[in-house]
Formats: sequence, structure tokens, C-alpha cells
Amino acid sequence: MSAALRLRRLDTLDFRNLARATLEPGHRFTVLFGENGQGKTNVLEAIAVGCAGKSFRTTKLPELLRTGQARAQLRLRLAEDGEERVHDAIIGAGSRQLRIDGKRPTSLAGYALRSPTVVFHPGVLEISQGPGQPRRQLLDRLALHADPSLEEALLGHAKAQRARLKLLIARGAEARELEAYEAIIVRHGLRLFEARTRVCAEYLPLAKAVHDRLAPAAEPLTLAYTPREQGEDSFRRHLEERRTVDAVRGMATVGPQRDDLEIALSERIARGHGSQGQHRTIALALKLAEVELTARLRGVRPLVLLDDVSSELDRARTAQLFEHLAREASQVFLTTTRAELIATPEDLAPGDRVDVEVRAGELRPKGS
Ligand SMILES: Nc1ncnc2c1ncn2[C@@H]1O[C@H](COP(=O)(O)OP(=O)(O)O)[C@@H](O)[C@H]1O
Ligand SMILES: [Mg+2]
Repeated sequence: MSAALRLRRLDTLDFRNLARATLEPGHRFTVLFGENGQGKTNVLEAIAVGCAGKSFRTTKLPELLRTGQARAQLRLRLAEDGEERVHDAIIGAGSRQLRIDGKRPTSLAGYALRSPTVVFHPGVLEISQGPGQPRRQLLDRLALHADPSLEEALLGHAKAQRARLKLLIARGAEARELEAYEAIIVRHGLRLFEARTRVCAEYLPLAKAVHDRLAPAAEPLTLAYTPREQGEDSFRRHLEERRTVDAVRGMATVGPQRDDLEIALSERIARGHGSQGQHRTIALALKLAEVELTARLRGVRPLVLLDDVSSELDRARTAQLFEHLAREASQVFLTTTRAELIATPEDLAPGDRVDVEVRAGELRPKGS
């Protein structure tokens, strides 16, 4: 079993409503409890921003600053294989400075890959139903762990798609430079398709196995990934054929930004069909498999951040989730309005579980 990443301490300054707060987590479980609107999710978000450089709730940096403040600061002490390191994130309204042990990372993805987190929030429970974006992001996160150099293709592809579209809208389908942008899209795009295909070869059987274990009585789950484009020439031709349509729609309709992970419950596409409960089990399976594969690819178990999941899942699924998480060694952080409902394993050692009350942005360890 791979070692687990551990957060030893979090200090915040002016991060949302956490003016000045310190968290000393449990070795295995940290239960953040309190009334609504007190700052529980903000604590998880601070951990996520400190580890990944970005929030799971918003892409807008100003939202991370405490109202009226020009910057927010986070310091995380993390341990991996007994070695400690310090992550510092200083966030301004228009920029962020990230440091690991005082050194700047070479890129945002480079920073995020050091300290993996897997987040479950109520929105994630829609992953099997809504638009394809979160499913593609999931595959790309895993693909980056498998091959960090993929960041270049991700950024390069997105940039070329934007430039092509801008040119199409400004000058139409005959613009000369389109060919050059489309060549870049094809080059990076094929790399992304290949990387997703490789990751799926490992991820999909894992997710299916977790699902069928969580819901042995339910219909077996079918997951499939087929890249939208398979060859250089046809990919290039599709881009060219769609120039006019893309210009009219103001949308790039050819490329990896359009493909998807197909989720089916016994032949029926699960989006649109399937009960709410079935979708939640699928979402749980996809996320638990993400924890597992991230650990395999990265060689360290990610931090697991669970925001309000017990209020969204029924009792049986919450129990399954905790049973699963208890069996493995990841450090888990969770928020709840009712700490007494969070049943962690009974054989925990002292310090394995810490309950912290969050009230108006202040953190109080229970019993202190
Ligand atoms: N930028 C901000 N500056 C100060 N306070 C904020 C900011 N953003 C949100 N808050 C406050 O944070 C609280 C919500 O925090 P949240 O972590 O979502 O609560 P919980 O998860 O406990 O329900 C609210 O009281 C809200 O007013
Ligand atoms: Mg919350």
C-alpha cells in the first residue's frame, strides 16, 4: 500500500471568513462540525487551495479574499514518507504566489501534482448526469498524474482552440492562419486523446469494480471512453469542415474538449435514466476509484476532502463510504452539521480522529 500524504497543520490569514485560524488535523480523520454558514467548507477550500493552487468552488481569486482585504495567505505543513514540506499560497485579487519550501513551482500543475487531493462536494454527486466537463477534468487530472508533461498539451491545445475561434469570428472560414492553429490543435489534441485512453484502460475497470462492490445487487455498470478523433488526417479534415459552423455558433465543436466518458447502466445511458440513488452510487464509485488510481499513479495517497456528503447521501451510502475510507489509509477531512452522525472505525488510536467546531470563522477543537 502506498504511503499517505498527511496534513500536519494549516494556518490561514484572511481566507474568506477565516481571518486567522489554525487547524491541527487528526492523523486519519478530521471532522469539521458546526451550524450552516460558519466556515466549514472554507476550511476544506483552504486545504484544497493550499495543495492545488486553486479552489474547487470558484475560479475567481477575489472570492477567496476576506471581504475588504487585499490578500489571503495559507500555510500548510505536509508530510510525505516522513519528510515534511511547507506550502505557502499568497492570493491577491489578480494573482497568486505559490511556494513549496520557499521555492516557486515551475507551473500550476507542477504545484498541484505534488500534493494530490480528491474532493467530494454535493455538486460532484451530479457527475454521472450533467455536462461532460467534470468527467473530462477527472480524466485529465488522472492523466496528468500519469504523465506530468501533459500539461503542455493541455495548455497549448486550449490556447490554440481559443485563437482559432477568435480568428474565425473576426475573419471567417477563409482566414489564412487557421491552418497553423488547426495543426497545433491536432498535435496536442491527439496527445490528449491518447493520454485519456491510456488512463481509462486502468481507471474504468477500477471504477466498475468499486461500483459493483458498493452495489452488488444493482445492475452492473458500463463505462466506456472512445476518443472523438482517431487519426491525424480525419481530425484535421473535421476542423476544416466545421469552420463555418464554429464561426456562426461561436463555439469550438471539434476536439478533445468535446469528448466524453460514457456511463451506462445495462445498456441505458445513465444520464437521463437511472434513479437518483443509482447516480449517487456511480458518483461515489468514480471518486473512490479516483482516490485509488491517484495513489497508484502518484505513489502517495491523496488527501480526501468530503464536503457535506452525509447530508446528500442516504444512511446506507454514507456508511458504505466511511467503511471504504476506513479500510484505506488516506487522511480524510469532512464537514457536517452533526458530528455525532459521523461513525468512524472504533479501533482508532488516540489522535487518529479530531473533531473541530467551526463557528464564525473560528476553529475550536472539541474538548479544549
Ligand atoms: N470573501 C469572504 N469574506 C468574508 N466572509 C466570507 C467570504 N465568503 C464567504 N464568507 C462567509 O463565510 C461563511 C460561509 O462559509 P462556508 O464555509 O460556506 O460555511 P459552512 O460550510 O460552514 O456552511 C458565511 O458566513 C459567509 O458570509
Ligand atoms: Mg458548507
